[in-house]
Amino acid sequence: MRRYYNDTISEKAFLPKMESKRFSDRLIQFQYLKKEGLQRSHYLLDMGCGWLRAGHLFIRYLEASHYYGIDKETAALDAGCAGMCLLELENKYPQLYLCEGEMDFELPAPPCGYDFAIAQSVFTHMAPEVVEKCLTNVLSVMKPGGKFFATFFEHPEHKLSERHRNRHLEYSRAMYPSEYFSDLAKKIGVSQFEYRGTFGHANNQRMLLFVK
Ligand SMILES: C[S@@+](CC[C@H](N)C(=O)[O-])C[C@H]1O[C@@H](n2cnc3c(N)ncnc32)[C@H](O)[C@@H]1O
Repeated sequence: MRRYYNDTISEKAFLPKMESKRFSDRLIQFQYLKKEGLQRSHYLLDMGCGWLRAGHLFIRYLEASHYYGIDKETAALDAGCAGMCLLELENKYPQLYLCEGEMDFELPAPPCGYDFAIAQSVFTHMAPEVVEKCLTNVLSVMKPGGKFFATFFEHPEHKLSERHRNRHLEYSRAMYPSEYFSDLAKKIGVSQFEYRGTFGHANNQRMLLFVK
């Protein structure tokens, strides 16, 4: 994993994202975490941050350097960086990192650990072994009592679609029964696991909470 920032990219990389019809999913994430107690002084890990759809809101809200965004796609981080310039957020010094592959979860973290983490629409692209490693490693860099929220597509049987054509190393849709996550939470040993269910996501994803 390596630190990432691109200040040469043009805003053209960002503007098509702004027009995307899934833009509403950014506000849901931000409001959800605020309702759960996210404060300006907290440290947040945005796992699979993509083009900073919600990241821009978190960066603006949190104290400088308290937002960490991780992704494996250069193009997504480039669009996120272009958006940051356009929105004049560079002085909030977000910590962006590029993974070296789909199993690179050697996560950077502040010395005190993270208070919150979110992976929205990320387990929805991962095979079970990737989900397990991601969850294990995210929890390892959280404060005791830190909350990790993750969304998934619920289905009675686990199913993986074909690989994405335009992105490296991920499935276009991965579905899981909720028991998969409760079993995983027991196996990894979280202090609390909650199936939160629907939360207003446009594609009807479900919310999970893992507490360290
Ligand atoms: C549908 S996007 C969601 C982005 C963001 N969380 C949001 O809500 O806009 C899924 C993101 O997860 C990232 N991702 C998927 N598998 C990953 C992995 N193994 N490691 C890091 N990022 C991953 C993808 O590159 C993509 O940017």
